[in-house]
Amino acid sequence: MKSGKISDASVFVIFGGGGDLTWRKLAPALYSLFQDGWMPERFAILGVGRKQFTDDSYREHLREGVDKFSISGQTDETRWAEFATHIAFSNADLNDQQAFGDIAKELSAYDEKWGEKAARIFYLALPPDMIKPLAEGLAGAGLNRDLEHARIVVEKPFGHDLNSARELNRLLTKHFQESQVYRIDHYLGKETVQNILAFRFANTLFEPIWNRRYIDHVQIVVAETEGVGHRSGYYEHAGALRDMIQNHLLQVLCLIAMEAPVAFDSDEIRQKKVDVLRAIRAINPDQIHRSAVRGQYGAGRIEGSRVRGYRSEPGVAPDSATETFAAVKLYVDNWRWQEVPFYLRTGKLLPARISEVSIHFRPVPHQTFPVSALQDSRPNRLLIAIQPEEGILLRFEVKHPGQYLALAPVMMQFYYREAFQVRSPEAYETLLLDIIRGDSTLFMRADQTEAAWAVLTPILDMWQSVRPTDFPNYQAGSWGPEGADILIAQDGRSWTMPTFLQCREDLAICRVTKEPPE
Ligand code: BG6
Repeated sequence: MKSGKISDASVFVIFGGGGDLTWRKLAPALYSLFQDGWMPERFAILGVGRKQFTDDSYREHLREGVDKFSISGQTDETRWAEFATHIAFSNADLNDQQAFGDIAKELSAYDEKWGEKAARIFYLALPPDMIKPLAEGLAGAGLNRDLEHARIVVEKPFGHDLNSARELNRLLTKHFQESQVYRIDHYLGKETVQNILAFRFANTLFEPIWNRRYIDHVQIVVAETEGVGHRSGYYEHAGALRDMIQNHLLQVLCLIAMEAPVAFDSDEIRQKKVDVLRAIRAINPDQIHRSAVRGQYGAGRIEGSRVRGYRSEPGVAPDSATETFAAVKLYVDNWRWQEVPFYLRTGKLLPARISEVSIHFRPVPHQTFPVSALQDSRPNRLLIAIQPEEGILLRFEVKHPGQYLALAPVMMQFYYREAFQVRSPEAYETLLLDIIRGDSTLFMRADQTEAAWAVLTPILDMWQSVRPTDFPNYQAGSWGPEGADILIAQDGRSWTMPTFLQCREDLAICRVTKEPPE
């Protein structure tokens, strides 16, 4: 998140260099950074894996991924040729300590060639069960020792529950200092998510009303139109609560609910976030049915095409109890947020791909206008649109034009694409650049991951011990199970229809001048 061009030499050692994550996300992000002039002058990308690549065939393989997935489109012949000179592949058996010795030699060779010590970024693009052998292998070769230059990057899932997360953190911090560990939650790299901090703490307007006196409740939605795809092996053991709420949605909640940091400093910001997680009220086991709802999609239609139910997806058990939808209600027990509910919901195969935060303000304390004027009137609402549209919209009341008195809600709108006319970087671009710079603000600290698991543990335990009897309980292409509507309706509220939904046909520029119906 810092500004300015960087000069540090860096080597990305990607374990799992032949895998999907490298192909779809890491290589396209690194290429975009290179294209935009953000990569250091001296850098190397060293893919490590069991696949039989030569340097050349590996470069070709990565190029295919970049052409397919990069948001900046097809690679440019000359620029790619230049970028490709920085890429190499090393075939290695990671169960053999010798492999780490070889990597150490290669890294020293770069230092010698460049005449300076490069940052060594060990990126674990591998399943979590490889973390232990890799951390041990790196430590065995002394590659963990240089606190300034050696960094280790781990992807989610950070454990399966509180105990396994603690175990994982113990393991990592046995060999690395916390300051060397970068736990990725890619939502934190999204531009609009980062902008929550700027919006809240670089303006005087909103912070004074950002509390229980003015805010009625908060909704955070991350809706996906994709099903489980080819990831059932992982997803069957995860489910929506672990896959999305434990990390992405809770992190967004932290940014909305945190106190103002004293300085823009990674530990200060992370501390303020972890304070929120610690303040989340523990859910009483006998109240879980009132605070959390799970769902699983059955067959249905999405964007006009028929899709199968979750239990018929390849690799999914025919009687699977894994949830593909989860909604929870949480309270943050502190002075600012006492009794303000935060409703979180996420699901696969919902009608639209939309991530939004919706802040619902309280109604005015006293109604000045006659009832006849209030038919359309609604309390203020602030919408932070994270994707696919990125922007901030504020709903407020105006007088409807005409010779009669009627109030009507309108939206004041800020769209990134209109205001700046530049593309927002992909989350991975931002995060990879921060790792090169050694800035861990947007990464999860060990205590954050554990605190997030602690919030959800009562729900996970209950869901584990009581099998759902109604799965599948929502149709693909619908907004989830009826229970989710009841969860919020019991408080006299309703889910807000995502603002951009009605514009799906034309997301290029999606204008909402009048509020859609709730
Ligand atoms: C990942 C989850 O972390 O986030 C996936 O494992 C999910 O299941 C994805 O699809 C959503 O990310 P995005 O950026 O597409 O909203």
